[in-house]
Amino acid sequence: MSKKLKILIIAGARPNFMKVAPIIQQIRKYSENAASHGVRLEHRLIHTGQHYDEKMSDIFFSDLGISAPDINLAVGSGSHAMQTANVMMKFEPVCEKEKPDWVVVVGDVNSTMACTLVCSKLDIKVAHVEAGLRSFDRGMPEEVNRIVTDSLADLLLTPSADADENLRREGVSDSKIKLVGNVMIDALVANVEKAKASQVLSRLGLVKKAFIYVTLHRPSNVDHQASLSMIMKELQRIAGELPVVFPMHPRTRKMCERFGIPLDECKGLRIVEPFGYHDSLCLTESARLVLTDSGGLQEESTYFKTPCLTLRPNTERPVTITMGSNKLTNLDQLSADIDEVLGRSTAISQIPPFWDGRASERIINSLIEAS
Ligand code: UD1
Repeated sequence: MSKKLKILIIAGARPNFMKVAPIIQQIRKYSENAASHGVRLEHRLIHTGQHYDEKMSDIFFSDLGISAPDINLAVGSGSHAMQTANVMMKFEPVCEKEKPDWVVVVGDVNSTMACTLVCSKLDIKVAHVEAGLRSFDRGMPEEVNRIVTDSLADLLLTPSADADENLRREGVSDSKIKLVGNVMIDALVANVEKAKASQVLSRLGLVKKAFIYVTLHRPSNVDHQASLSMIMKELQRIAGELPVVFPMHPRTRKMCERFGIPLDECKGLRIVEPFGYHDSLCLTESARLVLTDSGGLQEESTYFKTPCLTLRPNTERPVTITMGSNKLTNLDQLSADIDEVLGRSTAISQIPPFWDGRASERIINSLIEAS
């Protein structure tokens, strides 16, 4: 008789979808050989609905080849408390009905923390994928989500050795920590050929290694009129030197409208709708420089060895700086940092350990071992 494990997998916001896809694919692969190892895995994908626009959610399901969620909690947007509370209220009855052996949460968004909180009170085991990352900046909502999630989760699946150290420093027992590697890189490796086939460069009239790819959506950059105005002015200046393509996150667009910042296209600055996964990977690989405040893009640019400037005072992904192509910047330094990157002929950087496309295999093995 084979043993059965029922797993609920949570995805809520854009950066979650490329993390759950390799895990789902690995569960399928494992299940095909259930007879040989005696463990049957059954999974359900729960979408909290934190992100809901076609370009923030659906497009990733088709690009990544994952089926529609089994359950959509459709919580939508709201303040932090509203969104967190809505996820909790809607997820609790799902747990009571489904009675999972494990709930797998990924990343650091509000949905990650909300579902973990629910499970901790229902005595359901939680595995956190991408555990242990710390920016040491509690002004970031994600840092609060990371600390709460990691302190409650039963299995902490980390992407890099610095994450293990952070958890040990916080007193987490070694037995709960498993270094599995970066699951986002699993998705990248599986999709790199499709990304290379993307027509996004010709569609936008861009030439390989002759444009800057910009994504900015962090509240610390875009929720304040002064910083957002300065950012948009600086982008216009840079666009005079090299084309800039800026797919605008709905939060950033909403803030530009609120502050009366015009989004008319000026020469070289292309403000467009958010891209799907393959187009975004293609732009990251092909850009001369990535300018971002996203966690995912810091990692994807490191993998492609594309120079990256991160417009933040800190990062929870230090390995992208110590080994990868990333550097922190600020609005005062930005212009000089861009000139420095554009003046460089080659960037010397490495791909960090365990960014090998096999993290999801190690995740599933760890889950089974811990059961
Ligand atoms: C969330 C995550 C952040 C992640 C980002 C990726 C938290 C605390 N933040 O930030 O870590 O980097 O996702 O995108 O969980 N909106 C839409 N359509 C959508 C989704 C959002 O228009 O499909 C608009 C709404 O006006 C909403 C705003 O964007 O109020 C912000 O969305 P929200 O989910 O609150 O946070 P993000 O900034 O997207």
